Amino acid sequence: MNPDDEPTIRVGMIWAQGLNGVIGRDGTMPWHLPEDLRHFRELTVNHPVVMGRRTWESFPEQFRPLPDRTNIVVSRTLTMDDEIATQQAPGAVVVPDFQSGLNAALESDGLDQVWVIGGSSIYEQALDVATVVERTLINAEPEGDTYAPELDESWQRTRVEPAEGWVRSREGLEYRYERWERVENNDD
Ligand SMILES: NC(=O)c1ccc[n+]([C@@H]2O[C@H](COP(=O)([O-])OP(=O)(O)OC[C@H]3O[C@@H](n4cnc5c(N)ncnc54)[C@H](OP(=O)(O)O)[C@@H]3O)[C@@H](O)[C@H]2O)c1
Repeated sequence: MNPDDEPTIRVGMIWAQGLNGVIGRDGTMPWHLPEDLRHFRELTVNHPVVMGRRTWESFPEQFRPLPDRTNIVVSRTLTMDDEIATQQAPGAVVVPDFQSGLNAALESDGLDQVWVIGGSSIYEQALDVATVVERTLINAEPEGDTYAPELDESWQRTRVEPAEGWVRSREGLEYRYERWERVENNDD
């Protein structure tokens, strides 16, 4: 890489949603889908992850920080003083805004991919800079209070698994994995 080049990082977003766009209810996820949690781990492990404070708090204490990933938490209310932040969000890097989250990701181990892992407010802020979305679509319409962003025509589905229909989880929930990528803009 030319030393004058700005360091770059590929920004991806990852979420699971119902057919109605719901991703969360009452500070947690409205379904139990261990298969998807494994999928999430496989994709994000060894990459920095950026999340909002509520998503951080949605993980049970014994499961945070998410292991083998630099956990970056965006918050205006968690104190920025290093020592206090460490007590408030042990094991996480706390940043005051989304862009600082991306900067922190760039500084963590020089990895080339950061995953934005929610929630709704953080996905909205990442939408313009993200180039890939890994979305698990769940064949249900759960009640909820938090929604995934809409993927407009600037996004194209480039992968779906299975190619047709759904996978049925051990607990009977149907789902499929989709990859969406930002379509190149050739107008320039
Ligand atoms: N299904 C999925 O894949 C999935 C994934 C992730 C989350 N979820 C669900 O989504 C829900 C949480 O999402 P949410 O949208 O309510 O909350 P969130 O995005 O996780 O967190 C919101 C918080 O992030 C901080 N924040 C956001 N933008 C900021 C900015 N520009 N500058 C500084 N701080 C900022 C603020 O924290 P402060 O209030 O501390 O300032 C804000 O209150 C939960 O139900 C969770 O289970 C689902």
